Amino acid sequence: MDWGMKNRFSQIIRPGTGRCVMLAVDHGYFLGPTERLENPRETIEPLLNLADSLMLTRGVLRSSVSPESNTPIVLRVSGGSSIIGEDLSKETITTSIDEAIRLNASCLALSIFIGSKYEFQTLKNLSKLVNEGEKYGIPVLAVTAVGKEMARDSRYLGLACRIAAELGAHVVKTYHCADFRKVVDGCPVPVIIAGGKKLPERDALSLTADAIQDGASGVDMGRNIWQSDNPVAMIKAVRAIVHENYNAQQAYDLFSELSGLKSTQKRVR
Ligand code: R5P
Repeated sequence: MDWGMKNRFSQIIRPGTGRCVMLAVDHGYFLGPTERLENPRETIEPLLNLADSLMLTRGVLRSSVSPESNTPIVLRVSGGSSIIGEDLSKETITTSIDEAIRLNASCLALSIFIGSKYEFQTLKNLSKLVNEGEKYGIPVLAVTAVGKEMARDSRYLGLACRIAAELGAHVVKTYHCADFRKVVDGCPVPVIIAGGKKLPERDALSLTADAIQDGASGVDMGRNIWQSDNPVAMIKAVRAIVHENYNAQQAYDLFSELSGLKSTQKRVR
């Protein structure tokens, strides 16, 4: 890695610990005005300084984030399909490298759809993006998107993550699953997890703690943070797991304390 690439990468994955808390607010690119992300500025503002980096599209970046913010940007540059469209996997690269540089992106993010009708197209997109990113020292995050018909198991996710890394992704986002250690061990670059659909906070914190214990480098989490009734407390609890090695119960206690709830369970995992 050259200096620029290393510098940007270290803004995404903390040097020394290799951990990261990335806040995902890119959902609108195919879901439209997702619940509690209808007004992105309102959702993002209280969380911005608590995230190590922010993942979003150029549209939301320009309209809803102050250019004076110091939070590193992970720019989603793939899209082209919607939740009601023909096929979600039919994505292209939507944002040029020149635009990403103008927007001072620290990382570029793109989805791949392994096993889908448009697998080839999305892997071609990834390869192209890595080539562009390498030219200018910008790392690439590959998002292993999972179609409804795909099993979220270690065999499938391991395959998707490995292919992403082989094509040159610098970091890979996937989902936690049983035998997640196999996914991490089979992927030569850092693996971070998405939170997925909103869960009760205790379950989302357990998922995070399990993933970290199984070797994940951190999270790229959205709905389980900003769809919580207490998003600030939630991101702080997630941070405590990722950066301070809290277990799930300790993190839930912290969440409860910060949100004015009382932790009722004393169990420590
Ligand atoms: C999905 O493709 C989006 O890129 C989201 O960024 C990703 O799923 C993470 O968000 P969540 O934790 O809400 O699943």
